[in-house]
Parts: sequence; C-alpha cells; structure tokens
Amino acid sequence: MSPSADYLRFRLGTRRPVVAMVLGSGLGALVEGLSEAVRIPFAEVPGFPESGVSGHAGQVVAGRLGGREVLLLSGRVHYYEKGNAAVMRPVIEALKDIGIGTLFLTNSAGSVRADMPAGSVMVIDDHIAFSGANPLIGEASDARFVGMTAAYDPGLRARLEAAAEALGEPVFSGVYMWFSGPSFETPAEIRMAKTLGADAVGMSTVPETILARFFGLKVVAASVITNLGAGMTGAELSHEETKTMAPTGGARLAKIVEKMLEEGGFDG
Ligand code: HPA
Repeated sequence: MSPSADYLRFRLGTRRPVVAMVLGSGLGALVEGLSEAVRIPFAEVPGFPESGVSGHAGQVVAGRLGGREVLLLSGRVHYYEKGNAAVMRPVIEALKDIGIGTLFLTNSAGSVRADMPAGSVMVIDDHIAFSGANPLIGEASDARFVGMTAAYDPGLRARLEAAAEALGEPVFSGVYMWFSGPSFETPAEIRMAKTLGADAVGMSTVPETILARFFGLKVVAASVITNLGAGMTGAELSHEETKTMAPTGGARLAKIVEKMLEEGGFDG
C-alpha cells in the first residue's frame, strides 16, 4: 500500500467510507452537512498534491452523510495548475487502496444550452476530452488502454436521477466537454462545443474519470451550472461569478446526494 493510503487508513481508524466525492469550485459547503467529521489537510498526506486555487481548500473530510460513511475531497488540483493531467493520480490510487469503490466527481461548469441556466444540476452521461491531454500518457502497462464506453456508471446515474426525482428536483443530463483552462472559452469555442455535442464545458473531472476507470473505480459525476457559456449573454465570465453562483446549484446537488446515500444508492 502507498504511504498516502497508509496515512489515510491510520487517520480513518475504523471508518469504512462507501464513496468518495470530489467537490468542485464553490461546492465545499457539502462538507458542512457532515457529522462526526475528521478533517485531514492534503498537506498532511504524504504524496498528495497541493492546490492553490481560491475557493478550493485542500482537504479530505471523512464523516457521515445520509446515514453512510463518506469521504469528501475539497480542493482538487487541476491540469491547468501544473500542466500535468495526472496530478490527481496519487489521490485516486490512494482511494482505491483504502477500499473506495465509487468516485463521485462534481464540478462547476458553463452551460452551452440556453435552456439550462445557472443554478441547474447536470448529471454527466458522457464526456469529450477536448484538451488533448490524457493522465495515462506515460503509463507503461497495457492497462492504459482503458475502455470508456460506459465511463459514467449507468446504474449510479439512474439512482442519482431517481433520488432527484423523489425530491422533486429537476436535473439535466448531458455531455461535459473538458477544456484545459485556465482562461475561459471564447464565444467561437462555445459555438464549437455545442456543434460537437457538448451540453456543458469545464476545466476538470475528465482526467479524474479516466484515472478512476484505470484503477477500477466506478464513476458518477455531476456539474453545477454557474453561467451560460462565453458569448451567450454578452457578459464577461469570471472566477468570482463561479464562486458566487456555485452554492445555489451546489445546495440542490447536496440534497440529492444525501437522498441517494440515505437510500443506499452507493452500497454494494
Ligand atoms: N467554462 C469553463 N469552466 C467553467 C465555466 C465556464 O463557462 N463556468 C464554471 N467553470
């Protein structure tokens, strides 16, 4: 077992979380809903990367939500911080090593659909890796040829949508297109994204999905829409807007996730 996994096991004691959740920009509030929380800063875990993005406090928080043990990771490290698409590899490998079977990825994203406004939640049903990078470049084993046909687990997606429906919370589902960032897209890029079949655009998640599938974890993912894509409204985009708008959809996503946990949606 890696030193990272050893350290996490030591800090978790007898806890056996069923799912780990990566929280996107401005979605850190989910952590507040946890009971019996243990906070482990990324900086304390050997081998974990450190994030410098504002709105991304780097920590692992273990606790109970919806009657289940969960692990929340706030402060993912992005490709655009280091130019390394595999920057989250040690984290995801450690999650596998401590027995996590499901990775729930969340992000803040821009919508390319006029009918999917800020505040919406979009369940990701597929992705387009537009950045050209891949976290498995340099991996020598044949395991690098990871199948991506059902990368976003159909059973988990159905359970997430059912939990939303039970709460009367409308959710969208669609394709997430990964741009490297950190600059936002141009209006022409947003028109291109729409033409190519994207519903939302963002700067994360795809490398983690690829790594999680490489390590054999199931993946479920959701975007919180913080804005319409560049050029769709005439307003300039900003990270401030992302951080301000994320909690609206984030609170709805938190309720849906809690419901899914209560109903045993991640068990077994
Ligand atoms: N583009 C890319 N990433 C984002 C956006 C966007 O419009 N909004 C929030 N994250």
